[in-house]
Amino acid sequence: MLNGLVILTSIVTSLHTYWPREYDKTYLNDEVSTLIKSTSLKTLADSIPFYIGVATSPNSEYEELISTEFNSLVAENHFKPGSLLKDANNWEFDFSDADRIVQFAQKNDMRLRGHTLIWGKYPGMTHPVEWIDQVKKSADPEIEMKAIISQYIKIVMGHFKGKVVSWDVVNEPMGSKGLYSCIFTEAMGEEYIEYAFREAHKVDPDCALYLNEQIVNYSSTQAKEFLNLLTRLVAKEVPIHGVGLQSHHINHIHDLDGMKKYIRSIAELGLDVEITELDMRLLLFGNENDPYNAQGDQYKNVVQICIADPACKGVTLWGLTDKSNWMDAIPPFKWKSPNSPNIFDEEMKRKPAYIGIWKALNGQSQQ
Ligand code: XIL
Repeated sequence: MLNGLVILTSIVTSLHTYWPREYDKTYLNDEVSTLIKSTSLKTLADSIPFYIGVATSPNSEYEELISTEFNSLVAENHFKPGSLLKDANNWEFDFSDADRIVQFAQKNDMRLRGHTLIWGKYPGMTHPVEWIDQVKKSADPEIEMKAIISQYIKIVMGHFKGKVVSWDVVNEPMGSKGLYSCIFTEAMGEEYIEYAFREAHKVDPDCALYLNEQIVNYSSTQAKEFLNLLTRLVAKEVPIHGVGLQSHHINHIHDLDGMKKYIRSIAELGLDVEITELDMRLLLFGNENDPYNAQGDQYKNVVQICIADPACKGVTLWGLTDKSNWMDAIPPFKWKSPNSPNIFDEEMKRKPAYIGIWKALNGQSQQ
């Protein structure tokens, strides 16, 4: 009987955790000041100068808003191998969607980042499954993998040469204890990273080359190993120019002091930094008095930390409005709402997250 009650209570508790919640949108009671309404994020960022960017899709219905608020752009999905490479066996590409993003950036004089060339997680999306067989069947997997990496980078970076000024050459190389084991490490070990950067530099010597990673805990083994990897790359004079810290707040609110020190450690290696994929699930702030405001404070603090370090060149937001965001589309996040991770709400009203970024940029632009 008692056991039954304990089981029932834990079922109800865990269901409760997954039950969608709603938090008070207290920000709707406050009038947004005329100054904030009339001075865009882009205007403030330009005067620092600093990059404030957003991830987008081709033909976004928000193009006007995006070109007003941001001076930098990245494709959320359309520059990834899964979007560009239509037939991996025959090296057939379709650049039409990606080119629409290029045209949009050019028309509005926005900087364009490329995301991403080599990515070892999730076969099918981050690299074609055909490559797996091709490498396995070859007499020398290392040579075969090098040929694939080199060919892919030549075609894709070559296509965007002069239009994309900064590329994430390798995305998410780390696992929790060290290098993430994937098709690339199986064939080449750690060397695949160095190889990709050297090939990228050959194709476009003017392009800033980035290693992009998601780090949540800056004192974790993953964070330490990533720094060790960067140290090795720099010591070998690999043409790497910067590090992207994705900064998705998905399951945890990130430790800001740790992040600040980590950015400094990267800077001391002589590398630039960018916050490349910033977003924050609202429910992480669910225990706060006012979750929307708490989310706004965290946005403000992250942007402030980046602006304050001369090595940190910009912040890119991974989405614009809560109306459509990637977390609502992907399990397990979609099961646990509210995600509401972006700076405009479903009605395109400015959230405290917007105001937080505005204040961070404004503070610096006046110094
Ligand atoms: C995500 C996109 O936002 C989704 O639309 C897509 O379904 C999956 O990929 N880290 C990355 C990004 O480097 O490319 C991912 O983007 C989010 C996590």
